[in-house]
Amino acid sequence: MPRKVLIVTSSLRKKSNSERMAEEAARGAKDAGNTVEVISLKDKEIHFCRGCLACQKSGKCVIRDDMDTMTGKIRDADVLIFATPIYYYELSGQLKTFLDRCNPLYPQEYAFRDVYLLSASAEEGEKVAEKAVSGLKGWTACFPKARFAGSVNGGGATAPGDVEGHAKTLKAAYELGRAIR
Ligand SMILES: Cc1cc2nc3c(=O)[nH]c(=O)nc-3n(C[C@H](O)[C@H](O)[C@H](O)COP(=O)(O)O)c2cc1C
Repeated sequence: MPRKVLIVTSSLRKKSNSERMAEEAARGAKDAGNTVEVISLKDKEIHFCRGCLACQKSGKCVIRDDMDTMTGKIRDADVLIFATPIYYYELSGQLKTFLDRCNPLYPQEYAFRDVYLLSASAEEGEKVAEKAVSGLKGWTACFPKARFAGSVNGGGATAPGDVEGHAKTLKAAYELGRAIR
């Protein structure tokens, strides 16, 4: 049965390496027969979580911005793939803010069961992304029906578009998507 895959990309720059990896994962997931939607945080208005916790009773955030539509997409997808540039060995601030703003989902029913991370970084090696992976694992652990299902880091990618020359990284991102079923 095809799964509903939602990919959230968080780099704000043109020719983003992590976004390119996300495109490959989307292609792989589609080839495996899944339905795929990709949303970018570029040009989105997303304010910081204020920590008021009103959402824990109402199920809705008090802030009116682009999270109004995106939180529901997260709740209803079967599979979530997040793509981030590595910033100071961590998730990008924009992705962290996005994840914090998913707090209305904490007391709710949700469909997602598998959570993946794609990341791009200047430095090479899986170790570069381990704190970012740990951050997303922490978020996933707050949704006990879901599991952290895997990650790919595209190292050696500094300038926009660098990952284009990294066939191994793009293949790994494609295979991550292709394995979803
Ligand atoms: C603020 C900032 C912090 C960064 N920190 C790191 C880092 O800690 N380790 C690293 O390897 N690369 C670091 N980089 C480089 C980016 O991860 C790299 O350029 C990556 O390709 C960006 O992905 P994107 O093209 O999807 O935006 C940093 C870049 C910026 C702008």
